Amino acid sequence: MLSLESLCKRYDQTPVFADVTLALARGEFVALLGESGVGKSTLLNCIAGLDRADSGRIVVAGTDLAGLDDDAGARLRREHLGFVFQAFHVLPHLTVAENVSLPLRLLGRPHAAPVQAMLDAVGLGALAARLPAQLSGGQLQRVAIARALVHAPGLILADEPTGNLDPATAERVLEVLRTQVREAGSACLLVTHSAAAAAHADRVLRLTPAGIEPALRAAVQP
Ligand SMILES: Nc1ncnc2c1ncn2[C@@H]1O[C@H](COP(=O)(O)OP(=O)(O)O)[C@@H](O)[C@H]1O
Ligand SMILES: [Mg+2]
Repeated sequence: MLSLESLCKRYDQTPVFADVTLALARGEFVALLGESGVGKSTLLNCIAGLDRADSGRIVVAGTDLAGLDDDAGARLRREHLGFVFQAFHVLPHLTVAENVSLPLRLLGRPHAAPVQAMLDAVGLGALAARLPAQLSGGQLQRVAIARALVHAPGLILADEPTGNLDPATAERVLEVLRTQVREAGSACLLVTHSAAAAAHADRVLRLTPAGIEPALRAAVQP
């Protein structure tokens, strides 16, 4: 579902990461650790086509991103990608349900029933008509997660998606992610600092300035 080959990224002359090579199969859930500032969010942005790597290859759902113009990139994202941004990026003038329905509307698919089911799954079923300003940080984070998953994308990129959640809610959200990976066969790359989140993963990796390496689950601080 995702293949990265020798991906390198610099900002001006400063290297962010180098030689990132990774393959993610359908139905695989991978946790990505790494110190703050090592480039985890930048890596997810590159995979999503929102930022450009300086060298290397990114293949999403069998398509090399290098060969795509802007429209084709947008179509690929719409169809195959669910992105949970660290900063949520929930649209303030749309209700919770409208925010979550966006991926399905853009694909021209029915949205009422799947949106309600996804909101129920993340524990926001009663808040569908609220505006984002009327939500807590943890509730906003769950809107972002519901929006990323509602169209059952083949590839889920999640940037610290449980960072604002209490342990019980985090567990519930991770279970929703896990279910999506299992039942829809999605692949999930989850950036996290949480041991509870890493415990759900099939593999745990660490991003370093030199590349990606296997990490011990025990290395995650509880
Ligand atoms: N637009 C940008 N211009 C210059 N440097 C940036 C930009 N975005 C991020 N960086 C730098 O790249 C590095 C990686 O950032 P980031 O991907 O946000 O790290 P992480 O998510 O692992 O904490 C940091 O040193 C950050 O300061
Ligand atoms: Mg980050």
